[in-house]
Amino acid sequence: MEGTSPPKILLRDLSMTFPGAMNGVPLPVFERVNLRVEEGEFVCIVGPSGCGKTTLLNVIAGFLKTTGGHVLIDGEEVLVPDHRRIFIFQECGVFPWLRVDENVGFGILHSPKENRRRIIRHYVEMVGLTGFEKAYPSELSGGMKQRVEIARALAANPDVLFMDEPFGALDYFTRLRMRAELVSIWEREKKTILFVTHDVEEAMQLADRVVVMSRRPATIRTIIEITLPRPRVLDAQEYIDMRNGIFEAMGLDHSGLGSASDAKKSSD
Ligand SMILES: Nc1ncnc2c1ncn2[C@@H]1O[C@H](COP(=O)(O)OP(=O)(O)O)[C@@H](O)[C@H]1O
Ligand SMILES: [Mg+2]
Repeated sequence: MEGTSPPKILLRDLSMTFPGAMNGVPLPVFERVNLRVEEGEFVCIVGPSGCGKTTLLNVIAGFLKTTGGHVLIDGEEVLVPDHRRIFIFQECGVFPWLRVDENVGFGILHSPKENRRRIIRHYVEMVGLTGFEKAYPSELSGGMKQRVEIARALAANPDVLFMDEPFGALDYFTRLRMRAELVSIWEREKKTILFVTHDVEEAMQLADRVVVMSRRPATIRTIIEITLPRPRVLDAQEYIDMRNGIFEAMGLDHSGLGSASDAKKSSD
C-alpha cells in the first residue's frame, strides 16, 4: 500500500450482483471498482440513473453485503453500518414528530445535557436555522428540512458522510444555495464526504475529485480532479472544458448544450 497511513476509504475490486433480480436472472450492477479516498476529501460519484450509484454507496456504508471485493475504512473491512458514518438520503429523513432542535440532537442523546444543548446550538446556527429551533418539520420549506438533516448528521460528529443525491428534490435556487452551504461547512469541518449525484455540474461545483461511472454494469470510466478554487465560477472556461470532458467520459454528446456563458447571456 502507498503512503504511510491507510486511506480513509479503500475500494478493492468491488463488485455487486443482485442474484435473481430480473425474473431469476442475476443483475450485475457494478464491477471491479477500485478507489482510494483520503481523509477529509470531498469525492463525488456521477453516472447515469440506474447505473448503481445508490447500491455502491450502500455497500460502502455497510448496509448491503457485496458479492465481490472489499471495502476498507481506516484499513478495516466494512461488514456492517457504523454510527461514525452517516447516510443522508434524497428523501428528507427528518423526524416529523420532533422539533428542529430535537432532530438535530437526535444522534447525541447520550451526551450530557449542557454539552448536547451547546452542540445543537452550534449546528443549528451553522446551517442558518437559528430562530427555528422549536419549529416542526411541517412548518419548514424543503431546503430548511434538508439543512436540519445536515445539521443532525454533523452534530453526531461522523468521520464520513455518505450523501445520496441529497439535493435532488429541491428547487433550482435552493439547490444552488445548499451546495454553497455544504462547501462552506465542509471547508470548516473537513469531513470525508462521498456524494452521489447524476448532475455533472453539481459534482464539479462540490468535489475535489469526480468519479465518473459508466452505464450498468458500471465500472469507473475515469476520475477527474477538480483543481478550480472554491467558490467555483460556473462560466469559467476551464470549468466548461472539464464539464465537457466529463460528459464525453459518460458517453454523452454535449454539442447541443452550449456553454454556461451562453446560457447566462440568453438569460440576461
Ligand atoms: N435490492 C435490490 N434488488 C435487486 N435489484 C436492485 C436492488 N436495488 C437496486 N437494484 C437494481 O440495481 C440497479 C442499480 O440501482 P441503483 O443503485 O439504485 O442505481 P442509481 O442510484 O445509479 O440510479 C437498478 O437496475 C435497480 O433496479
Ligand atoms: Mg440512486
